Amino acid sequence: MGNRFKHGFTTVADDVTHADLRVEGQIPAWLTGTLIRNGPGQFEVNGHSYRHWFDGLALLHSFTFADGRVSYRGRYLRSAAYLRDNATGRINYRGFAVDPCRSLFQRVMSLFVLPPPGHNAAIHITRVADRFLALTETPIPVAFDPHTLETLGVYDYGDALSGQVTTAHPHFDAQRGIAINYLLKFGFTQTYQIYGISGARRHLMARIPAPRPAYMHSFAMTARYVILAEFSLVLPVAIDVLLSGKPFIENYRWQPERPARFLVIDKDTGARAATVEAEPFFAFHHVNAFERDSDLILDIAAYHDARVIDHLRLDHLRGDQPSLDWGELRRYRVPLDGRSATYEIITDLPFDLPQIDYPRRAGQPYRVVYGAGSHPQDRDFINQLIRVEVESGAVKTWYEPGCYPSEPVFVPKPGATEPDDGLILAVVLDGARESSFLLILDAATFTEIGRAHVPRVIPFSFHGTFFADI
Ligand code: CO
Repeated sequence: MGNRFKHGFTTVADDVTHADLRVEGQIPAWLTGTLIRNGPGQFEVNGHSYRHWFDGLALLHSFTFADGRVSYRGRYLRSAAYLRDNATGRINYRGFAVDPCRSLFQRVMSLFVLPPPGHNAAIHITRVADRFLALTETPIPVAFDPHTLETLGVYDYGDALSGQVTTAHPHFDAQRGIAINYLLKFGFTQTYQIYGISGARRHLMARIPAPRPAYMHSFAMTARYVILAEFSLVLPVAIDVLLSGKPFIENYRWQPERPARFLVIDKDTGARAATVEAEPFFAFHHVNAFERDSDLILDIAAYHDARVIDHLRLDHLRGDQPSLDWGELRRYRVPLDGRSATYEIITDLPFDLPQIDYPRRAGQPYRVVYGAGSHPQDRDFINQLIRVEVESGAVKTWYEPGCYPSEPVFVPKPGATEPDDGLILAVVLDGARESSFLLILDAATFTEIGRAHVPRVIPFSFHGTFFADI
């Protein structure tokens, strides 16, 4: 059959807008606001391909809804990497899995001089004190205008907190009115720093020693705790990943002889409440977490090991029939009394890119998760959207042959009281037509309400957020 989804890894033009997309079905009149998403849109420069999906240059795109109509905009983030790589026609910065083209002299010098960051913030977006920020796993975000998607420049918190590795998945603690993230700092010893952001100011909440830091793409939060899940993909020696001379992820090693560990940190005291071991596993994404009796419940899109990272190399994904490892939705029970963590499988359907009714359910018991995965009889790439009731494992899916959806984003209906009274928005690549559309599903029934056609391919994006007020 060949690869029907490789167009999702094709470089597309910059600065494209379409004011009034052709709509099939109906866009609900109450749907007002903008979905902004982030992901790679340029995959090579002057014939030099970036090596990994995570290294493509960030393309922001947005869908704005008003009066039953929808408009599209796509624009590249003007990061240092975007500007300099395109100006010079070569890859200048070290990335997730890519090395710059360098002379021998530059290679030797880079052993002594910290390489400059490329700021290719291609993973996610967030809003901090009315600043819209593009995020990646190096801790310097890039600000942009949410209406025009124009780049405003790197964002400096202007404080003394420093570190080398973070996540593009901050949490929002509505009760405390803060955003929370972690920042790994290398030095004489390694430290996970948990910090909060209130207004535009950061404050340190906890410092946890990290002798062998793990690669963690996201983390979990309950009402009382922050939980770092250290998978068995770790730095075998304590070396600053930015100084090592290797692409970021190549510093990490899969060490299954090391158990996975849940580091449970009290948000109010900053103390470590527990360190709980589990069988080795890997994940990019936590779904949600909450406290039940004296245990913590963590739902995670989990993999048996970290091979999936290698499967997401661009040469592999653009190949004829690329194999791809899939996550499964697991529920971990993390006791705080010294016992190990255990898990059960909520659904064994291929599953990742989870989204919940985050503003209302983060850190709380919840009912439904939406995600993306692969149809069991057609496992070529992300080609199925999934709605799972987490207590029963009951599943509903959306699938259309040759169509490849992004992460599904939940938009609650204003004033809704039922858990999934709202819509699902997903950007879908139609592999046969070589174009994309925005798919709108009823979140409860998972049936289609409408779709808005974009007369271009939108490369696969990672993450995004719906803002009702812009
Ligand atoms: Co992610």
